[in-house]
Amino acid sequence: MAFHLFKRNNEPRPIFATLGTDMHCHLIPAVDDGSKCTEESLECLRTLKSVGYSKVYITPHFQHPRFPNNEDDIVRRYGELCNAAAEAGIDIELAGIAGEYRIDSGFKARLDNPRFLQVAGKYVLVELSLHQQMPGADEMIFDMQMKGYDLILAHPERYPYLNIDGPRIEQLLNQGVYLQVNALSLGGFYGEEARRRAYAIIERGWVSFIGTDTHNTLYCQALRELSHSRKIEKLLEKHEFMNNTL
Ligand SMILES: [Fe+2]
Repeated sequence: MAFHLFKRNNEPRPIFATLGTDMHCHLIPAVDDGSKCTEESLECLRTLKSVGYSKVYITPHFQHPRFPNNEDDIVRRYGELCNAAAEAGIDIELAGIAGEYRIDSGFKARLDNPRFLQVAGKYVLVELSLHQQMPGADEMIFDMQMKGYDLILAHPERYPYLNIDGPRIEQLLNQGVYLQVNALSLGGFYGEEARRRAYAIIERGWVSFIGTDTHNTLYCQALRELSHSRKIEKLLEKHEFMNNTL
């Protein structure tokens, strides 16, 4: 009896059902620092389903020179993942393949010959350096917008040099850059400072998307734990996000 109670109480809860769509995760096996093999990717997809997601976009890193992925190869590998998920009977919609593009020195070359795998064919998911401000990053963001791309900036709460009370983040918002917070930031997965910043920018109404940024089964464990948080469930209900438009 005690065992059953324990098991039931620890079942993941579908707190992300209101979002519906995860638009940020690293589940193409062995192309970046995400999932290492197909089995791990399938396990992560099962977890995403269990915490309420019905649809997912996969977004491997494109980062020079650490993850020199190319779009054709990633599209091919995505097809293989879709086949494996179908064979395993995983009940979550693989809605498309996109990328998480690092705005770094290698990004300049992309601007001359742009070909981006976009979330829902509409948004380019970009990230900044996690450590230090890259000179010229804002100019590259502006260039992308001038070329007609809609940008989502991944996890602004994770850049220690990006002051959420300073002018730069407001400038990005005013330019029409969408912000995406990581769900796990809300549970302190990346530390207290990222957690505080994630809550603050959501409360200000600045955040359009929540992503899981799932890399592997460690993240899955954290997501299952997070699914028991009433505080986060309420936050997701209180604020309107655009995930379900994807
Ligand atoms: Fe990511």
